[in-house]
Amino acid sequence: MSDDSVTLIEVGPRDGLQNEPGELPLAVKQQLVEDLADAGLTVIEAGSFVNPTWVPQMADSEALFAAIARRAGVRYTALTPNLRGFERALAAGADEVAVFAAASESFSQKNINCSIAESIERFRPVMAAAAEAGLPVRGYVSCVLGCPYEGALAPAAVARVTGDLLELGCYEVSLGDTIGVGTAGSMRALLTELLGAFAPAQLAVHCHDSYGQALANILAAVDLGIRRIDAAVAGLGGCPYAPGASGNVATEDVVYLLEGLGLATGIDLDRLIAAGEHISGFLGRPSGSKVARARRSA
Ligand code: HMG
Ligand code: MG
Repeated sequence: MSDDSVTLIEVGPRDGLQNEPGELPLAVKQQLVEDLADAGLTVIEAGSFVNPTWVPQMADSEALFAAIARRAGVRYTALTPNLRGFERALAAGADEVAVFAAASESFSQKNINCSIAESIERFRPVMAAAAEAGLPVRGYVSCVLGCPYEGALAPAAVARVTGDLLELGCYEVSLGDTIGVGTAGSMRALLTELLGAFAPAQLAVHCHDSYGQALANILAAVDLGIRRIDAAVAGLGGCPYAPGASGNVATEDVVYLLEGLGLATGIDLDRLIAAGEHISGFLGRPSGSKVARARRSA
């Protein structure tokens, strides 16, 4: 990847729709994923193979992977919390999986029902099975700029879990500001610490926008060399185990920011806006993207 391009990882179908009350028809999810690929997204986190009693909204991930018309050059990815989840993802035809840990013990317990150390042990067989199947594994660390249960966390705690995930064999770690409390200042401080130990290419940022700081935090990350950014079309999202977490930063708004910086994304903004308006219309609310709203009223 060149220094003047950025890869966006679209997490709307997973991080966005996992938090929607009520059941969404499979055809709506399928359309969303296909629209996103048509708009130029090359990595789409389409679902998650977690315990369906924990996140019922993702219980149809097998059916979704079976339904989507795959576009060449697009990676369709999924969350897998354990070996059981990995086996489901593999059978469903996921191109890549992600394991997810946290920097905070309380969040780890609430979200995946185990300690941080136990989660790393739980990921070992996932990594082995993924290596055997030839699937890349991404790692997530949640609560990197604050935890809903423990408040602020030391960058060293984030660095420890990030290092553990990379050592396990994750090709990159996505740093989750799960409840969107970070600021450009705290993002800069965190990344400055992490970049003392890891290369920019090993890190991605995943900013929720609860406090309206996500774009500023992403700009801080881009300035420090980060070129992999998670976002959710229309700003969909939240985490059912993170009270107060709002949606992710809207992909449309990140594309607009990056284009303004002269950084290529390969995304057709108009098509992306249309995809976001379509899913927002179905959910019965305006798009959470400010760029989409501005374009509509222009
Ligand atoms: P557990 O209850 O401790 O699991 O959950 P267990 O191993 O004790 O098993 C209990 C039952 O669940 C068993 O069934 C298992 O078979 C079943 P039974 O024998 O009782 O009939 N089970 C499964 N079924 C289907 N698929 C599976 C699976 N695993 C176990 N994969 C577990 C532990 C991790 C599974 C659970 O806590 C869980 O599913 N958590 C997921 C929570 C989640 O999805 N949170 C949202 C995603 S993370 C996020 O949003 C943050 C992120 O966006 C970054 C950021 O913003 O920070 C990534
Ligand atoms: Mg998230």
